[in-house]
Amino acid sequence: MEALFSKLVFQVFPYIALTVFVVGHSYRYYTDRYHWNSKSSELIDRDSLKVGITMFHWGIIFTFFGHFFGLLTPQNFLNKLGITAGMHEFVALYTGMLFGTMSFVGLLILLRRRLGKDRVHATSSTNDIALLILLVIVVFLGTYNSYFKRFDVLYTIAPWIRGIVTLNPDQGLMAPVPWSYKIHILLALALLAFSPFTRLVHIWSVPVTYFLRPYISVRRRFVDIP
Ligand code: HEM
Repeated sequence: MEALFSKLVFQVFPYIALTVFVVGHSYRYYTDRYHWNSKSSELIDRDSLKVGITMFHWGIIFTFFGHFFGLLTPQNFLNKLGITAGMHEFVALYTGMLFGTMSFVGLLILLRRRLGKDRVHATSSTNDIALLILLVIVVFLGTYNSYFKRFDVLYTIAPWIRGIVTLNPDQGLMAPVPWSYKIHILLALALLAFSPFTRLVHIWSVPVTYFLRPYISVRRRFVDIP
């Protein structure tokens, strides 16, 4: 029974979440492009937004890249570059504490604003509030783990995640992992599945082409000099 539960949670659920993530975003992009944005509330209340939104975004962006490279790069490869497991863990732990705390405090400020400022609250949907609460829980658990648990993820969670990418996840690797890590991971997967139905779609619309566009939009950026 326990093996079946573990199989469902650590071998089947990640693929359900990732499928909803990909299909959900594609469907929303083609059917609801008008609402594909961050639903900015800056015009409604600007001053209360600045600190929370800045702390949260810088914190979560660094956390995202930390998770991406830290978990997907095999330690054996890093060893060849001279980056030992001890160094990897040290950097992961302290950057996790720093950026996790930044995101968490930013989120609390944003949640307080969304619930406490009348005009912002009036224009918020249940979906907006549910998203912030889910983010608060996921970020809290991740940050709590860096401060208080400090479990060795390099030879357990990290290879399990790489197994998901290579379509061969080993659920046994997750057996010794503490529950605070397991819940963090499962809720993060749930967040991925929820994201296509929320304002999180704005993440895919980072305006990188802004830096390449012509200064005057009706002209070409580079004019041939005769
Ligand atoms: C470089 C990438 C990103 C850009 C350019 C960006 C931009 C924005 C903007 C313009 C807003 C609206 C702020 C306002 O109310 O005026 C916003 C809100 C928000 N963003 Fe991002 N964002 C990015 C990445 C992310 C990431 C990675 C996450 C989370 C995983 C995230 C989560 C949120 C949330 C939850 C809100 C709503 C906050 C609230 O309740 O007021 N964003 N973002």
